[in-house]
Formats: sequence, structure tokens, C-alpha cells
Amino acid sequence: MKYTGNYFVKTIGCQMNVYDSEKLASILSSYGFDRTQYFDDADIIVCNTCSIRHKAEEKAFSFLGQFARTKKEKPNLITVMAGCVAQQEGKKAFGRLPHLNIVLGTQAFSRFGQHLESLKSGENRIVDTDDSPMIYETLPDTECFNENNISRFITIMQGCENFCTYCVVPYVRGAERSRTPEKIVEEISLLAKSGVKEVTLLGQNVNSYGQREGEISFPQLLEKINQIDDLQRIRFATSHPKDLSMDLIYAIRDLEKVCNHLHLPVQSGSNKILKKMNRGYTRELYIERITALKEQCPGIGLSTDIIVGFPSETKEDFEDTVKLLNEVEFDSIFAFSYSDRSSAPAAKFPNQIDESEKKERLNELLKIQETLTEKKNQTLIGKTIRILVEGKSNKLRDGFEDLNGTLKQMTGRSESNKIVHFPSEHANIGDILEIEIKNAYPHSLWGYPVGA
Ligand code: 5AD
Ligand code: SF4
Repeated sequence: MKYTGNYFVKTIGCQMNVYDSEKLASILSSYGFDRTQYFDDADIIVCNTCSIRHKAEEKAFSFLGQFARTKKEKPNLITVMAGCVAQQEGKKAFGRLPHLNIVLGTQAFSRFGQHLESLKSGENRIVDTDDSPMIYETLPDTECFNENNISRFITIMQGCENFCTYCVVPYVRGAERSRTPEKIVEEISLLAKSGVKEVTLLGQNVNSYGQREGEISFPQLLEKINQIDDLQRIRFATSHPKDLSMDLIYAIRDLEKVCNHLHLPVQSGSNKILKKMNRGYTRELYIERITALKEQCPGIGLSTDIIVGFPSETKEDFEDTVKLLNEVEFDSIFAFSYSDRSSAPAAKFPNQIDESEKKERLNELLKIQETLTEKKNQTLIGKTIRILVEGKSNKLRDGFEDLNGTLKQMTGRSESNKIVHFPSEHANIGDILEIEIKNAYPHSLWGYPVGA
């Protein structure tokens, strides 16, 4: 069926949701809808939701909640809750959002068109939280790409069967499923031809890519993607420490397009907490893997995720996490305060930690990491770093104010995922440049293009 009208897509949550939102957008475009950047102009509003922490879930309800009033003036407005909260809540979502039309679960994208037709034929509320054996395939709509579309996310697998005790993902994203290498390579080749220079491959645990389906391994997939012409850089997330193979470490070392960077969530530095989290490794094993990475891939950029205030985390357990940060010297961390998710087992664990204590630990951790990052960034002063130019920089850095007016302030990213600001007359988005680093800050580096 063909439609007319505008759609607006709001994304809450992780990179996988950014990718899924583009998929939802290309489905709606294929039905004849036009994309709008303003929800006031929209005839259909889709909110792609995240339930990983309580805050994200609340954001989804409050975003969609605001359209209850709009619907009184615009009764034909269609509102859709998609993604993880939709999967988790099912028809319960109508309790808080009586004006909602479609609850579209994480595996229901292929049936979105059907549901829109049902609305047209008079239905008012539709819930689809059914499973799908395969990830829904659509190629991205590259016609709307512009010079800023140099970096894209690509989901290569969905779902997770690790069942970390704090995590809602296995319940809302279902069993692990991988796309075929052919579909992935086809999509990335299309993107590269349309000017995309960098892709980030996404999956909850990329190291188990293709295992269920008996496909090639993740390092073998990287080898295939490495051969795609016009593509400059490959990143991926997330790797699980328990499954990090030497083959993957060698792939990072040997494949020239694979960035020298790894995001390896540790979650905690305490063996007691890691066990309660069901992470399947000890701090010793984690450090062993990091040591191998540093040996094989000198200068590798390392980042991690940490949860503070997991049930029964004592001050000593927290100190173990601080010690781990000091020992590993990550380039950056994403730290979260533990958030109870009712479908995850940890919600029922005893000895929950006070919100104020969690906040204190989180702030302390972030402060410690800021100093560590700045110290690490300062070791790069005087070095030359290769960056991919991502855009104009809106931050006026020390020294920029004295530069002659023809220079633009630009920004790019190093292979190790550091943000680098620099002045240039000629740099274009998508260029690869060598920058000599002159100064370092906690969140960025600053330098001059070599030979400019
Ligand atoms: N509370 C806090 N943080 C969480 N994460 C996952 N579940 C929770 C939770 N219940 C964090 C983990 C994960 C990241 C994506 O989100 O650190 O790696
Ligand atoms: Fe959640 Fe653990 Fe799976 Fe990551 S590995 S998605 S934290 S269950």
C-alpha cells in the first residue's frame, strides 16, 4: 500500500537503535511517507525506545506522552512505540499511553507495513512482540546521504544469551541471531560507494558472530569487510571479555582498515561482583586479555563499561574497580549507576545500594578516569596521529584565536577513537590526515596538520 504524509523518528538509546531507526525510516519511505525533522509536521511519529536503564525507559514514555494532547487536535496522527521498551511492555504500554497506536517489538519490523494497513482499516491499537527467526533485511536509503554521512553503524547480529544478571537485553532482544556475511558485505559496499568511509559493526557479543548459524567467524568477517574498496575504517562493538579470541586480536593487528581500538566492557574490578553479575571471567582473566592486546597491538585505544553500586558492592569491591582502572589505563570509560530492571534477576538480589552512595561512587570513578585519560592523552603530545576528518569543530581551542581568518576549525577522530581538533584551510569531511599533536585535554587532542 502507498501512503502520503510525513514521518518523524525519535531515537533513544544505543548505536543499535540508531541503526534500527534508519531501518524504520527506510521502511516508511518505501511506503511513500516523507521524512521530517519536526514532529509538529508529522502524520506518523515513531519512538525507538531503550530499556537498558530506568532513565532511558522514562524518557521514552515522556516523549510519547506529549502526543496525547496533539492527538485531540490531530486525530489521524499515528504514534508508534518501537524497540526494547515496546518488547518489554507489550500491551501494558497502553496503560500509560492510552493514545498509542502501535507497540512494535524488537523483532516485528518486517510486519510494520501490515500493522499500518490494519490501522487504515479501522483498528486502533496493535501490539506485536512476536519473535522473528531472522533479522529483517532492508538496504539503507542512500539517496538522502550527504557529505556528513561518512560514518555509519551496521548491525551484524542481534540478541544475547549471556544473561548477565543486571541486564534486560536477553529478554528484550531475544536469542542470538546473525546476518549472513553476503548481506553485510552487500550493505557495506553500497554504503562505501555512497561516500561512507567508516563503519561500526554492532552486536551484543560480536565474537560469537555466526556461531549458531555455522557461518564464518567474526575475524573472517572482518577480513571480508577489509577488502571493500573505498571503505577506510572498520570499528566494532561490543566484545565480551570471556570470548575475546587471539584470532580477533590478530585481526585488529593485521587488517589495515580495522581500527586499533577495542571497547571491552569489564563492568567491575571485583571478582565477587563479577561472579554475581554472571560475567563468566575474573579480573585476572580480563587483565590477561588486556596484556595480550597491548603486546600484539601497541598503542591500542581501550575503552570499557563499568557499573557502580551493583547489589552488595562494598567499598572494598568499588576500590577493586578503581585499582583496575589504574592498572589497565583505559583511554575512556562509560560508567553507569546500577539500575534495577524488573525482568533481570539482580532486581531481586539482597543488599541493594543507596542511590546517594551509587551517585558518590559514580562521581568518584569519573573523576579518577578524567585524570587518567588526560595523563594518557598527554603522552601523545609531539606525536603524529592519523585521523579521519568528521566535521567542523565548534570549540575554540587555545591558540585558535590567533590564527588567520581563512583557517577553519575542524575535528576528526584517531584510530584509537580520540577526538582531535585542528585548524585547516583545505580539509574536507572524509579526508584522512596526519596531525601533529600540540596539546591534550581530558576529552580531546589539539594539533596541526603535518605539511600544511
Ligand atoms: N544498570 C546499569 N547499567 C547497565 N548496563 C546494562 N544494564 C545495566 C543496568 N541494569 C550497562 C552495562 C552495559 C552498558 C551497555 O550498559 O555497563 O555494558
Ligand atoms: Fe547484557 Fe551481558 Fe548480553 Fe551484554 S553480554 S547484552 S551486558 S546480557
